[in-house]
Amino acid sequence: MNNPTNDPTNSEANDSGAANVKTASTLRAISLDEIAHLVKDCTDCPLSAGRTNAVPGEGPADARLLFIGEGPGQQEDRQGRPFVGATGKFLEELLASIGLTREQVFIANMIKCRPPQNRDPSPDEMSSCSKYLDRQIELLNPELIVTLGRFSLGRFFPGESITRARGKVREKEGRFIYPIMHPAAALHRQENRSAIMQDFKNIPQVLEKLAQDRSGATQSETSIAETHEFDQAAEDSGQMPETPTAGVIPAEQLDMFSMPAPATEPEPRPTPVAEPVAPTTQQLSLF
Ligand code: URA
Repeated sequence: MNNPTNDPTNSEANDSGAANVKTASTLRAISLDEIAHLVKDCTDCPLSAGRTNAVPGEGPADARLLFIGEGPGQQEDRQGRPFVGATGKFLEELLASIGLTREQVFIANMIKCRPPQNRDPSPDEMSSCSKYLDRQIELLNPELIVTLGRFSLGRFFPGESITRARGKVREKEGRFIYPIMHPAAALHRQENRSAIMQDFKNIPQVLEKLAQDRSGATQSETSIAETHEFDQAAEDSGQMPETPTAGVIPAEQLDMFSMPAPATEPEPRPTPVAEPVAPTTQQLSLF
């Protein structure tokens, strides 16, 4: 696939012989399977030379939830599947805590090939690979995108700190993003583990709130639009609420939708939207 003129997914390149750059709008893959094939054949960046298997991502085409990690590790590279090592085991536990299995969600990564020694993906590698994730997002059109860790957070909110962004739903490009720390961060630090588990447990309520807003059944003060405005205004003014101390789950953390900050208060004091005891996924008929 190095030669763009041979790439049937890149009509612009076919027409003009342009550089081998494919954005979601020019990547014409019409199915997730087709993307998986393209990823497996991809040689667009140097990581392809070192891989055993590319890891396109996996899950049902009608998944309501899309999880985006960082990139394949050793086990993933061996098996060609995302999150199958120790971190994947923890991800499966987290999914089970909200009544889900990995087969019910789509799991993808920012980059599809393992970097040497599991180093961080470079900006060039992420940029080269982004066309695949962009198209996966378009095709899946998930109700909620859960970003795992700072790299996938950065795809939507460049430069933001995961410790500040985690646990709050935000809108970007017409999609709802729920940032969570990377499960690998929990493997060695108990306080991260608690934070990730709590953020995960809120996912059913996030989905329920989004469904309510979609159906217009609830016209509460915490509309998604206001959430977005607040986040944008806070970002612009550099006054994002401080991150809760890891390991301590404050009441605010139960409010997954950020609310406009009262003019006189430095910290937003949201009205609780969640019951103290989360309904089960069955009650919410999530899947
Ligand atoms: N496995 C993956 O597939 N992605 C990660 O980010 C970590 C482990």
